[in-house]
Amino acid sequence: MVGTDKETDKQIDSGAPREAEAAADVLIVRRARIPDVEEMLDLINGYARLGLMLPRGPKYAYENIRDFVVAEYTSADGRRQVVACGSLSVLWKDIAEIRSLAVHPQFRRKGLGARILRRLIEDARELGIKRVFAFAKEVGFFTRFGFTPRPREELPSKLWGECSCCPKYYECDEIGLMVELQS
Ligand SMILES: CC(C)(COP(=O)(O)OP(=O)(O)OC[C@H]1O[C@@H](n2cnc3c(N)ncnc32)[C@H](O)[C@@H]1OP(=O)(O)O)[C@@H](O)C(=O)NCCC(=O)NCCS
Repeated sequence: MVGTDKETDKQIDSGAPREAEAAADVLIVRRARIPDVEEMLDLINGYARLGLMLPRGPKYAYENIRDFVVAEYTSADGRRQVVACGSLSVLWKDIAEIRSLAVHPQFRRKGLGARILRRLIEDARELGIKRVFAFAKEVGFFTRFGFTPRPREELPSKLWGECSCCPKYYECDEIGLMVELQS
């Protein structure tokens, strides 16, 4: 089940602690902070190298740190790790974009992407945003949350700002998805 900020989960996966330790492990979703940036970029750029998302550098991450949320996993022995991140970028008065949504490979398919996405959508609602947009290769994740694929010609031009930074600009293989938020 998708939880809220500060919710504590049991250890979720193969980072691998033994069962006896599991109850002590903690997973929270919270706003990103400056010390998280290096780990966030490792996650994002790991997937960028596979062609799954846009690469990001420290300048982008620091300038936009307030847009990001992270999932932080603390193991039974007290070690902390950023295991997922994502951001909500406001583009205009009525629209915001989900960007850099990435879950550590060992923590995928455990509900973490859902927690991050719901938190970002909650942020959009609080801001009074009516529509949330995402570019993705794997639409199956987003469609579960009410996003629907939109033909390129229907996308407002302000959504293309990021695309001009993409090396695949002329041969884009991502799909634009949109969800209308109920007030
Ligand atoms: C896409 C991604 C963020 C999903 O995160 P996750 O933690 O693995 O997903 P969750 O476990 O929260 O899945 C939530 C639901 O979506 C489904 N889902 C997850 N990934 C899916 C996929 N690729 N295709 C279809 N459904 C998917 C899950 O089965 C689950 O469905 P359920 O509620 O019916 O059981 C993650 O796999 C990832 O980091 N991918 C690489 C980077 C990327 O493509 N980011 C998105 C573009 S910005």
